[in-house]
Amino acid sequence: MYTYKELGLSNTRTMFERAYKEGYAVPALNFVSIEQFNAIIDACEEKRSPVILLASPNLHRQLGAEMLARVAQAGVDRLKHEGAGEVPVSLHLDHGMTYEHCAHAIETGFSSVMIDGSALPFEENIALARKVVEYAHERNVSVEGELGVLSGAEEDGAHDGGYSHYTDPKMVEEFVSRTGVDSLAISIGTSHGLVKMKPNHDGTLPELRFDILADIQKRLPGFPIVLHGASTILPKYVEMINQFGGKLDETIGIPEDQVAKAAKMAVCKVNIASDGWIGALALTRKILAENPGAIDSRVFTLKVRPELKDLYLHKIDIMGSANKA
Ligand code: 13P
Ligand code: ZN
Repeated sequence: MYTYKELGLSNTRTMFERAYKEGYAVPALNFVSIEQFNAIIDACEEKRSPVILLASPNLHRQLGAEMLARVAQAGVDRLKHEGAGEVPVSLHLDHGMTYEHCAHAIETGFSSVMIDGSALPFEENIALARKVVEYAHERNVSVEGELGVLSGAEEDGAHDGGYSHYTDPKMVEEFVSRTGVDSLAISIGTSHGLVKMKPNHDGTLPELRFDILADIQKRLPGFPIVLHGASTILPKYVEMINQFGGKLDETIGIPEDQVAKAAKMAVCKVNIASDGWIGALALTRKILAENPGAIDSRVFTLKVRPELKDLYLHKIDIMGSANKA
């Protein structure tokens, strides 16, 4: 049992206050391996960017609470030891689906949690979020709620409803005031996974619903908004996966300029999972194919880290969070 303060972590409140005021978003990056984790920390060290480490309930279970807490602590320490000063790091539960997920995460060192009641009826979503907020705020942990539904699958398939509906701006004030959440994830056209949107008839990609975001921003001035499903799905890695034995059909990411535009508005946190996953997998496939006699997994783990670091450096540039530590 740890509190996040003992691990040197920060909640997201101060991070978001600054991000909102200065018009950028804090990168919120899922990791599922140590290479990915190290690459994230390397990139944040170089760019002096604050970071939100995203861990799903699955990862929390798989690594174990103790290991996850210590890994996050190692990130904080590494950023300090490498002379970068204080680079705020938050460990955030991504898509907590139950009160128990959130409470367990808080008890084992998370500094921020998401309670995702977006698939529930409005009143049930409010009641669940309120309950999590009461528990979290007593411990100074920040809470993200969600209104509106994104399509596409999360890693555990929890969101594979295959449908989406945009957030109704008329509902956000009531949701935020009755739950007390510190930030709100909304649906404006992004989605989880590798196919994000349907192209227009002329082949161009549609715009996210910036009108909805602007309306929400007007109704909740100064309040931090969260964008899930914001990977850009870099074609380079899709091609690499297919070239080295994988089979990914059509993929469509969110255009970079649209992510950057959202980050300049009320969006203070942008979630990226798929880009890191396919990047790591593509590089692993390539390196294994090029080294058929390898008997030690370090043949790829050592090479994946610097390439992934470049990927995360680029994400930080898109979100504008460099030198905001
Ligand atoms: P992507 O599938 O676009 O990476 O979405 C990540 C996400 O929202 C994690 O919560
Ligand atoms: Zn998500």
